[in-house]
Amino acid sequence: MNYFNKNDELIVLGIETTCDETGASVISVHKNGKQKILSNIVHSQFEEHSGFGGIVPEVAARAHLTNISFIVSESLNKSKIDVSKINAVAVSCGPGLIGGLIVGTSFGKAFALSREIPFIPINHLEAHILSPRLFDKIDFPYLALLVSGGHTQLLYVEDLDKVKRIGTTLDDSVGETFDKASMILKLGWPGGRNIEIAAKHGDPNFFKLPRPMLKRKNSDFSFSGLKTALFRIAEKKNLNKQIKSNLAASLQLAIADVLEDRCKNAFKTINNTNKGCKNFVVAGGVASNQLIRERLKSLGAHNNFTVFYPPIEICTDNAAMIAWNGVEKIKKYGIENVNNFNFEPRARWPLDPDAKAVRNAKEPR
Ligand code: KG4
Ligand code: ZN
Repeated sequence: MNYFNKNDELIVLGIETTCDETGASVISVHKNGKQKILSNIVHSQFEEHSGFGGIVPEVAARAHLTNISFIVSESLNKSKIDVSKINAVAVSCGPGLIGGLIVGTSFGKAFALSREIPFIPINHLEAHILSPRLFDKIDFPYLALLVSGGHTQLLYVEDLDKVKRIGTTLDDSVGETFDKASMILKLGWPGGRNIEIAAKHGDPNFFKLPRPMLKRKNSDFSFSGLKTALFRIAEKKNLNKQIKSNLAASLQLAIADVLEDRCKNAFKTINNTNKGCKNFVVAGGVASNQLIRERLKSLGAHNNFTVFYPPIEICTDNAAMIAWNGVEKIKKYGIENVNNFNFEPRARWPLDPDAKAVRNAKEPR
């Protein structure tokens, strides 16, 4: 299948607006196998939401609308690629906050229409778990742990567009746990990164926090009890800097212990059912946490799995992973078959359509 232009290149523009990051990226793939991020611009709406202690959907949608054309122009300028050279536009059309999704999807469709190029709708979750393939050669099938603000899932990634869920959270996501904890400890927004910074000066064994689901036979997660336990301690304490650091470090360690235990079970499941699968991908915003990276790296090594992470800046939301997912689709289906102009943005868009819905899981996106 030839999908390269006259210069033996394929150039894709990616657009990301699912949550609180407006992103645009241009990537190029050469016939010789070289793939390059030519630009990856991300505007994080920290300031817009900081006064609220969380993301306000209406505020997010308006900020995407204000910023998207500037972010796309900046991305094109930085890539030094003339707009006429873009071969396709890939847009994350869900899951996410519907206002932002409408902004990104409409902008992407207008771009595709005016340039007469394919419009490729991308599932944001799939983009996360494929993102390490932009940097390393990782063959399918592989096991993936997706740890983001909205999701905590263990997935068997058989192929592009073919994913089986083998574990999920029964209530809160791990990213949400970091974010709520940061609010309780008054460490500000965004939570995960601030908890990690505070934890550097804390004693992780100072407070004994629960490890929900530890030693259960399945690969599911639960974090709401951990969040409540932290809240109960915090409300009785004078939250000085040292106590906050100790609580942050204790929370981070409890989360790392739980993730390690749940992944260990997933390795067992995979070993029993799909022996050939020996690669393990960890992706999503929480995958930028150093302690979690180290713990899962050594867990993989002990279980004969090779562990892959995207670089830190590709763990949190960005458009390079969206553009890359577009490239993956073009490579598999051919550039003439990927246009899906009638696709409508989806607030909910599960990766594994056969997986049962979990009653109490919030799965906001
Ligand atoms: O993948 P992502 O950017 O957005 C979603 O798709 O949800 O993930 C955002 C989540 C947030 O909950 C944030 O607190 C968490 O990733 N996060 C971290 C760190 N950086 C971001 N959690 C722990 N440690 C970090 N360094
Ligand atoms: Zn994400």
